[in-house]
Amino acid sequence: MSGQESAPHQALARKYRPQDFETLIGQPAVARTLANALSAKRPHHAYLFTGPRGCGKTTTARILAKALNCAKGPTPRPCGECAPCREIAASSCLDVLEMDAASNTGVDDVRQVIVETVALAPARDRYKVFIIDEAHMLSNSAFNALLKTVEEPPPHVIFILATTEAHKVPATIASRCQRFRFRPVSPEPLAEHLAGIAKKENIAVDAAALDLLARAAEGSLRDAVGLLDQCRSAGEGRVTVESVREMFGFTAADLLLAAARALTQRDAKALAAALKTVYEEGVEPAQFLKDLRAGFEGVYLEKLGAGKADPQWSKAMPEATAEALGFLLRRLNRALEELRLGDSPRLALELGLFSALEAAHDLGAWVARLEALERRLSAGGGGPALAAAPLPAPAARAAAPAAAPESASVPVADGDDAAWARVIDAISASKMALGAILRGCSRRSLPDGGWSIRFSRRFDLDGAERARGLLEAEAAAAAGRPIKLELTLGEPAAPAAVDIVDAAIPETPGGAPDGARWKDVTEGASGAPETSALKKAESVFGGKSRIIKKPSGGA
Ligand SMILES: Nc1ncnc2c1ncn2[C@@H]1O[C@H](COP(=O)(O)OP(=O)(O)OP(=O)(O)O)[C@@H](O)[C@H]1O
Ligand SMILES: [Mg+2]
Ligand SMILES: [Zn+2]
Repeated sequence: MSGQESAPHQALARKYRPQDFETLIGQPAVARTLANALSAKRPHHAYLFTGPRGCGKTTTARILAKALNCAKGPTPRPCGECAPCREIAASSCLDVLEMDAASNTGVDDVRQVIVETVALAPARDRYKVFIIDEAHMLSNSAFNALLKTVEEPPPHVIFILATTEAHKVPATIASRCQRFRFRPVSPEPLAEHLAGIAKKENIAVDAAALDLLARAAEGSLRDAVGLLDQCRSAGEGRVTVESVREMFGFTAADLLLAAARALTQRDAKALAAALKTVYEEGVEPAQFLKDLRAGFEGVYLEKLGAGKADPQWSKAMPEATAEALGFLLRRLNRALEELRLGDSPRLALELGLFSALEAAHDLGAWVARLEALERRLSAGGGGPALAAAPLPAPAARAAAPAAAPESASVPVADGDDAAWARVIDAISASKMALGAILRGCSRRSLPDGGWSIRFSRRFDLDGAERARGLLEAEAAAAAGRPIKLELTLGEPAAPAAVDIVDAAIPETPGGAPDGARWKDVTEGASGAPETSALKKAESVFGGKSRIIKKPSGGA
């Protein structure tokens, strides 16, 4: 590593700070517009550089200062060798004043550094250039003091304001400036830039590892180069995807994919297994959620036709709809938020993921199926297949096991049910994930007045157990008496075998639907291939279906 030996302490980010517009990465519009203005020798008197951190605002401000003051300028290609060029690069030029507004926020600072010196002619160079970095940090009075000067600066003065938070710069100032928007740099040019540096510095690094670093940098060149720097200092042979993961705690790709697949396929067991690995490998819950979110986001955008996903990810979830992915993304966001606010990252991770799994995130598919069912019904019960089924005897309906056998186990709505609903609402207001889990539980009143709450997943039960105090307090408030809670594990009470076709037809007060108009043809239709649609519906809704047919014509 010869580069390292010759300059042991120089950070790569500083060493590879671009010195001209040509080497500036990922800001073509900015570079082009500035270079054109310089060629035409028509510099503006005030510039506002806005954009995310680490994408070249300060760097560009210095390049612009050089371009303006280069002995051979103003020129889009500063020579880099004359006194002004060299001094500006070293931040030691008397005519280029850099003010870090983050540490000089007050009105006095602005007066001292700018207002009082602005009238003085440049000491040596063509222009006096004021670079105000982190400009959003200036106080209101400081902005006001600056306003007059920016409005009508002497001809030899040029202002460059740089900020990550453009909205905090008052409109009065911003409107006097020519504005340049810096963009976060996309992973490809980032990785390419890193590869160039790695080559010059003799850092042995796999292309896939560079891709990973580039993605982790989230658009910031400073971060990307900084990460590479860390890899360099870690030494010890080749930098691989694994060593990068190890070093920065990124989640292994196969673990992420396994969790993602579990979520889209609603496979609780697989999700639990993935989480187990997360804990065993010491993956940061927040990092894990962010990595998951990044993966889903790629596929989501791809489904919307707005981007290209990691092919491994799109392959892992061919069935996922944009809607379902949007739902998952919102859940992951929420989990991250809860993780940030709460004191147990692990609980936030589990609740977030399991509640996402539980919720009906392919609502769209459900609605489509319901609608198909409805269409069949309103078409007179006569899908071609059903019509082909022979009409059963009029008694068929009575003979068929009409009453759902499990209906006895459905709890009768009582005051406690209403109280339980209020508990869920109250908890959902502050702890949405827990609320969602409770919504999926079944509740039973016990003889001693307590409640038995049944959870279908161990994770959910554990999470609720940790929130027992809150649960009991809410239950007492809702029921108006102390409630002892029994939290148990078990399948939620099987939904009653709902006769889904019947359910869509208002019962006549006398009992069964009017036998003259509707016939139960379940028996007759059984075995017919078209009942497979109903089998599917059953698997979706978890009930038992019956086929009811409106006799055609004069019946
Ligand atoms: N467009 C770019 N091309 C090449 N390198 C860049 C670019 N932007 C940033 N860098 C690298 O990142 C380092 C920091 O860049 P710079 O100080 O210009 O960022 P910034 O946009 O001012 O960020 P901040 O908002 O945090 O001040 C540079 O020294 C350089 O190594
Ligand atoms: Mg900066
Ligand atoms: Zn020069």
